[in-house]
Order: sequence, then C-alpha cells, then structure tokens
Amino acid sequence: MKQIKVGFIGSGGFTRKFHMVNAKENTKLTIHAMMDVLEETAKSAAEEFGAAYHTTDLDRLLSDGDIDLVIIATPHNTHAELCMKAANAGKHILCEKPMALTWYDCRSIAEAVKKNNVKYTIGYNRGMAPLILEARKRLDSVPAKRMIYHRIQAYFSPGHWTHDPEIGGGRIVSEGCHIFDLLSELVPAPPVCVYASGSRFLPPEMSKMLDSAIVTITYADGSVGTTLIASAGCKTFPKEATEIYADQHAISISNFVEMECHGFAEEKEVMTLPAVDKGHKLELDLLAEAILEDKDPPNNLQKAARAAYISYCAMESLDSGKAVPLKESDYAV
Ligand SMILES: NC(=O)c1ccc[n+]([C@@H]2O[C@H](COP(=O)([O-])OP(=O)(O)OC[C@H]3O[C@@H](n4cnc5c(N)ncnc54)[C@H](O)[C@@H]3O)[C@@H](O)[C@H]2O)c1
Repeated sequence: MKQIKVGFIGSGGFTRKFHMVNAKENTKLTIHAMMDVLEETAKSAAEEFGAAYHTTDLDRLLSDGDIDLVIIATPHNTHAELCMKAANAGKHILCEKPMALTWYDCRSIAEAVKKNNVKYTIGYNRGMAPLILEARKRLDSVPAKRMIYHRIQAYFSPGHWTHDPEIGGGRIVSEGCHIFDLLSELVPAPPVCVYASGSRFLPPEMSKMLDSAIVTITYADGSVGTTLIASAGCKTFPKEATEIYADQHAISISNFVEMECHGFAEEKEVMTLPAVDKGHKLELDLLAEAILEDKDPPNNLQKAARAAYISYCAMESLDSGKAVPLKESDYAV
C-alpha cells in the first residue's frame, strides 16, 4: 500500500501530543520531515518520531518531492501564508485552526487550494469526536429543531500568544471557530444570525484584547446554539461540555469523555470512553483516506470558511453590540 509522506510545519506543543503521535500510529502515513523556526524543537521532534530529517528551512520542506502532506501547527498569523505556499508547492494540507485571521486570507487560501487541486482539511476536530458522532446518530431520528449549549473554559499561562491580536487573533476567532463548527455540524440547517456579548476577563498583562464571550448562533430551522468561551477559567475544572435538547430528548457530553442520552431509549444511556477523544485521530485518518482514494477530505474548505466567517461575525457583533445576519452565500468559497 502506498504510504503518504508527511512533513510537519511547526513542531510545538499541540502537534507533538496529537498529530505526530497519530501519524506515527497510522499505517497510511509515514513521518518524513520536521520543520520549525526553532532548530532544537524540530530536531527533538525528528528524533522522537523518527523523521528522515529536520530543518528550519520552509523551502527545503516544500520543495521535497517526497512529501505529499504537510501538517501546519504554528501561531495563527502564519497559517494563511504557510497554507498558500504549501498549496502552491502541490502539497496536501492539514492546517490547525483558525483558517486565517481575516476573511480576505481565507478566500486567498481557498483560491490557492482549488487552483492547485490539493486536499485541504482545517483542524476543527470536535465534530469527529466519537461521542459527538454517537450523539449525531441518535439525533438523526429526531427531526425537531435543536437547542445547544457548549462550554469551552480554559486556563492560560501569562502572556500566551493566543491573546495577542497580531499573533493569535484572540480566542473568539482562534478557538471559537472550533465550536461554531461543532454547533453547525449538530444542526441540519445553515446559520442565519450571530450575536455575541463579552469583554476582556483576564488582566491586561495576560491578555491584550477581548478574551471571553457568549456567542449565540441562530439557524434557518429555528435551532439555537450558544457557546460560552471563558478565558479566565480554571485548569482543574473540565474544559468543555455540550448539552443538546430536541423534542423531549436530551444529550449531555462532558469533555468528550462521558455522555448521557435521555429520551432515546426507555432507560437513560450512559457511555464513558477510556480517555478524552476530541476526534484528532479520526480527522487525520479520514484525510489520509481522502488523499489515497482521491475523495473529499474531512473539514474541507467550505466547512473551514463557514466557522471562520461566523467567528468574524461574532467579533463584529461584539464590537457593534448588534446581531449580525448571515447567509450561505456570504461564506461560500
Ligand atoms: N485542534 C486542537 O484541538 C488544538 C489544540 C491546541 C492547539 N491547536 C492549534 O495548534 C497550533 C499550534 O499551537 P501550539 O499550542 O502547539 O503552539 P506552540 O507555540 O506550542 O507551537 C507552535 C510552534 O510553531 C513554531 N513556529 C512559529 N512560527 C513558525 C513558522 N513560521 N514556521 C514553522 N514553525 C513556526 C514555534 O517555534 C513552535 O514550536 C495553533 O494553530 C493552535 O490553535 C489546536
């Protein structure tokens, strides 16, 4: 079987814990190269995961004809340029969220990906978490509109670049997009309106911008999804939780590890996974399969653009204090 050779762009904390481990375990993939602007980071990742080489030279990696797929996990202000360069070099792409920090850049990425006919997946893994897939299976039998709540609270070390508008773009754009995608995957109708309310909850030395908000999305079928994004959170409390209500059915998922479903069977159903699973493994496997079999990749350009666009509308709403209407054609790429 042909194996897909992977080059990693950015060898930092998250990709090392998830994408590198998952790529190493996946027989469809071979880890070929590690690139990072910090040589020591690329070198230690190459040693740990058995890559053929490490480099700080992006052009070396992108001109390596052996590499089929690049996995980009770098600070958010670099995603647009790296994706466009990778697409122009003919590489398939898994890029971590957010797609980009501006809508203009999202459109430019989409153009480059389409022009070069490469596969593109954005790292909105939550919709592929096993318990979310279990919830969706049950919800398929309930045609009623949905009311959904998702909490994403987090603790940040002082000065983390996420809260720097130039580098991270802030949590609403850079992490909210994950959840705006998740809500939109749980509702079988397009989003039509976004309203957000929030402010900076962290002290100024920890955050240079608005960092926390409650964002509500209304869907064309009357469903409503709300996301609580708290940055002044606590690391001992579970980061995420999802509650879904539809026509006398209820599903509650705690941190992608425990689920209770009520109203689907006579007795309440309880599922507990051996460990938190947010869907990273399945996401990479589906992308590998899409490359090998020339199929549509998971979390493709259209899905990437939908949640990115919602995140920019949320920022607009935070600024204006008003709800922002949207339609499918606004975020078509
Ligand atoms: N999908 C998820 O669940 C999830 C969770 C956490 C983080 N992430 C995303 O992963 C990405 C990386 O986050 P992290 O927490 O690992 O950050 P990090 O700071 O730990 O790692 C980033 C790495 O990128 C390197 N880097 C910076 N600029 C670069 C460039 N131009 N080219 C190559 N390398 C460069 C840095 O030296 C660093 O090693 C971000 O997009 C983040 O949003 C996703």
